[in-house]
Amino acid sequence: MSSEFHHLPVLLKETIEQLDLQPGAVVIDGTLGGAGHASSILERISPDGLLVGLDLDEQALSTAQQRLSGYGNRLRCVHSSFREIDRVVDSMSLATVDAVLLDLGVSSHQLDTPARGFRFADAQSENTPLDMRMDPGSGHPTAAELLRRASAVELQSWFQRYGELPGSKRLARVITERRETEPLRTAADLLRTIREAGIGRGRRHNPATLVFQALRIAVNDELSALRDGLEAAIAVLRPGGRLVVIAYHSLEDRIVKHRMRDAARGCVCPPELPVCSCDQQPSLRIITRRPVRPGEDEIAHNPRARSARLRSAERLGAAA
Ligand SMILES: C[S@@+](CC[C@H](N)C(=O)[O-])C[C@H]1O[C@@H](n2cnc3c(N)ncnc32)[C@H](O)[C@@H]1O
Repeated sequence: MSSEFHHLPVLLKETIEQLDLQPGAVVIDGTLGGAGHASSILERISPDGLLVGLDLDEQALSTAQQRLSGYGNRLRCVHSSFREIDRVVDSMSLATVDAVLLDLGVSSHQLDTPARGFRFADAQSENTPLDMRMDPGSGHPTAAELLRRASAVELQSWFQRYGELPGSKRLARVITERRETEPLRTAADLLRTIREAGIGRGRRHNPATLVFQALRIAVNDELSALRDGLEAAIAVLRPGGRLVVIAYHSLEDRIVKHRMRDAARGCVCPPELPVCSCDQQPSLRIITRRPVRPGEDEIAHNPRARSARLRSAERLGAAA
């Protein structure tokens, strides 16, 4: 199975540079995926470092375990969300964490496996179920279930907030009308409904891209997971440790940018207050003033890298 799992790590050289790894380091890869970044991290921290790799996707974990089996117990794979990084670190009684990597979103393998339902390519869409769960064994509702159960107001709010979709209200209404007679089960059903709603004509982004993005975020609660994951990562890093995050759309990148900025500022008092009363100290120093983007060569070689934005920061002060 491992030879079938393909995913080219994005911004690999830049990520490794920003993680600033030394032999013996303890690193958390919160999104192990195809183990592309993990493999280079393990090379850097050998011979005696430890990489703890998390993923929600059990298939990704077992592939990573096989690929990196040569590293023995220098790699520990954990089936967990990165929002639980602090609990995973506690459960392993790790005294210190030198770096955390979050490479957000889905892997190429997940995207290219029609049964996972992440892609809406017309050619396969009749056979693509509306699933979209990163963790298909979780028992959480699939995209089809959400489309069946959610109210028009909920649907509209997801399309608006997570897809920034023009015509969100109209699409929500058309979905709730259509499901009265026929449930939406496949990507093709949803594509037909989007066309029927007649939204997004003449816009730069294909409305289907925005709708699928919004549903995926809702199914996996991705933005809350990211907020929690950033908190947990900041909490476990040692002073001087590095946090590196790669985002693939502006909603994610905005959350990363603002959390890093707030942590670098420290004080959360309203600006009109003459003196600080919150007493909060900065917990991060931002390293990448602007996000690092892939170069033309990388994009030509791996078009999925196109939207990537990498931000990194260093932990300040005493570990929380
Ligand atoms: C872009 S891929 C990572 C690719 C990896 N860096 C590599 O080089 O092969 C993102 C991975 O994160 C996982 N993932 C997404 N959200 C997650 C979460 N909240 N917690 C843990 N893993 C998550 C996905 O299942 C997917 O395998």
